[in-house]
Amino acid sequence: MSRRLRDRFTTLARYAETLAFRLAAGYALAGLAFIVLATASLYLVLLSQLEQSTSLFIGDKLNVVRTLLRDRPSDWDALREEIQLETSARSYQRFYIRLLDPHRSLLLSTPGMADQLDLSQLSAQALKSNSSDFEMRGRHGQHFRVATALAPVGRDGTSSDILQVAVDISKEKEILARYRRWFWSILLAACVFLPLVGFRIARQGIRPVEAMAATARRISSSNLRERIRPEGYPFELASLAATFNNMLDRLEESFEQISRFSADIAHDLRTPVNNIRGEAEVALARARTVEEYRDVLGSCLEEAVRLSNLIGDLLFLARAESPLALLRREPTNVAELIARVREYYEASACDAGVSLSASSDEPVIAALDQSLIQRALSNLVSNAVAHTPAGGSILMTAKANSSALQIEVSDTGLGIPAEALPRVFDRFFRVDTSRSRIFGGTGLGLAIVQSIAQLHGGQVHIASKLGQGTRVTLSLPLSVANMTNS
Ligand SMILES: Nc1ncnc2c1ncn2[C@@H]1O[C@H](COP(=O)(O)OP(=O)(O)OP(=O)(O)O)[C@@H](O)[C@H]1O
Ligand SMILES: [Mg+2]
Repeated sequence: MSRRLRDRFTTLARYAETLAFRLAAGYALAGLAFIVLATASLYLVLLSQLEQSTSLFIGDKLNVVRTLLRDRPSDWDALREEIQLETSARSYQRFYIRLLDPHRSLLLSTPGMADQLDLSQLSAQALKSNSSDFEMRGRHGQHFRVATALAPVGRDGTSSDILQVAVDISKEKEILARYRRWFWSILLAACVFLPLVGFRIARQGIRPVEAMAATARRISSSNLRERIRPEGYPFELASLAATFNNMLDRLEESFEQISRFSADIAHDLRTPVNNIRGEAEVALARARTVEEYRDVLGSCLEEAVRLSNLIGDLLFLARAESPLALLRREPTNVAELIARVREYYEASACDAGVSLSASSDEPVIAALDQSLIQRALSNLVSNAVAHTPAGGSILMTAKANSSALQIEVSDTGLGIPAEALPRVFDRFFRVDTSRSRIFGGTGLGLAIVQSIAQLHGGQVHIASKLGQGTRVTLSLPLSVANMTNS
């Protein structure tokens, strides 16, 4: 096979796999099958109608002559009139009758019968034919249907003459031939017309899908703004387009978040590194006293701790996202846990002039990853301490109802503006960047709290009023979290 031929064949094979081709082929085949079935059944009905009317006609003629022969065997005038005159009087449906005696000698026949039919052939075919009915061609190419019957003579019926009726069915044959010609022309036209129409309809139908594919092809990570315009689409495709657009909205949002996240990481890593570098450069510019070196090393250590905390937080968030993140659940006395966190922050709360207390209705023992929950609570309490002015108070409570364990950290601090509230769980989000900078926050604390809650199968909610205080609630499902409620 030459290369060009092979290429053409591959193109054709690929084309045969397209949806438009399959739809068009299906439509054309169904249409053709319907046309063939409809026209063939009409043809069969017509054929049987014509045959039936010829049979009735022949039966009629045979009956008349047989009745005459049976009832009035010697009335030759009546017989002659029936056979010779009646037949020749008809012009729209020509037929011929002949009467033979039992020895096959001719008694009577329609005048001119021998001109139309080869009588010896008729006799031979009548003898040969198994049925009493057969078809033969006339001398001038006409079609005849011939029926042969015995006609008992007289009432006693001792002997029987032979009666033969030949009906010219050329007109019927012509009607059927014309019908067949029509049938083939319609079929041929349908073979050309149906695939073309089918193809047009299929192309029209899948055009929106092609438009969607084109839009999808244009979309890349730097071009997530593109949307499909579903106006004028059929319902199914409009809803597909809407689903696709929604997916793009979510993708765009995720991409934006990721790029914001990367920028924030870069920024937050650069600051402590720059600080360390600056301190070191200044220190090395000239000779320093031991005291000065100690100071520089101290602040470098501070920055390094900040850096390593940040990296630790980022690593934690990355690991928590992995589906393989495992919890090390152990029976945990929640009242003891919150008391431990309180103790840990007591000094810093005291320094800030804020009262910090922990209360628990009843001792709850739950299956929790202690270190993670402790980390989450630490983040919440450190936020509360950082944002509560002197004289304020912070309260940690734990309570369990039938379905969930709820640990709450509330404060009477600065609060969070309502417009910032939905975003406080986003990574690197800080309400007031300058304020947070003073507090040294990186904006990962609440994101970590949320990850920990989700790892436990629970949720975290925040409620806050500017100037009045903030309440963060960790809800952990009890079926998993609670082991005993002593
Ligand atoms: N109790 C609170 N009162 C007022 N504002 C709060 C409180 N908790 C959180 N916020 C605000 O929400 C922001 C996000 O808190 P988050 O704990 O995630 O970050 P951060 O405290 O700034 O930094 P990090 O916790 O990573 O050191 C904070 O910057 C702060 O503005
Ligand atoms: Mg924080």
